[in-house]
Amino acid sequence: MTPEKMAKLHSNSEANHRIWDAHEFAEILSSNGVLAECHEHGFALARVIESEAELLLLVTDKIKQNNGLATNCLLKIEKKIVESGARKLTLEVSESNKTAIQIYKKLNFKKISVRKSYSRDKNGKFEDALVMQKDLLLI
Ligand SMILES: CC(C)(COP(=O)(O)OP(=O)(O)OC[C@H]1O[C@@H](n2cnc3c(N)ncnc32)[C@H](O)[C@@H]1OP(=O)(O)O)[C@@H](O)C(=O)NCCC(=O)NCCS
Repeated sequence: MTPEKMAKLHSNSEANHRIWDAHEFAEILSSNGVLAECHEHGFALARVIESEAELLLLVTDKIKQNNGLATNCLLKIEKKIVESGARKLTLEVSESNKTAIQIYKKLNFKKISVRKSYSRDKNGKFEDALVMQKDLLLI
């Protein structure tokens, strides 16, 4: 998927956080250890560093949301992460992002800490972020 398409999907997702532009996607995609799982209407991005990985973004176009697409992308990127050798996946999510938190809980991520006033919404307002983590099973 091109960086331009990612930027468009991110914008179309109506995320309540800052939307990345195509240049940012191009830069992240060319970074070491970055994995992508892409679908026509959504994608997941993660970065692997040795035995650990971080989920960077999970995005679905607004018109395709609530059809299981993000869940599917996350499951597929977990498999790629395991194949690349990592065994632990961590993410940060704004406390107000109930849809994302629902997906992470469903896929067995556990809350490990809270970062106070850590993430900014699209209007620049700070809010608490949950740090969630999952031990990835051997495939
Ligand atoms: C978060 C996001 C990726 C989810 O995409 P999606 O393709 O709609 O996700 P899925 O269809 O796989 O799953 C949605 C789940 O949220 C649930 N849900 C929907 N609205 C909800 C709400 N207001 N509160 C709680 N759960 C909600 C659905 O019931 C579903 O759960 P279920 O499978 O247990 O029934 C999408 O909303 C998005 O792109 N948001 C903007 C970007 C973002 O915030 N990404 C996450 C942080 S990077």
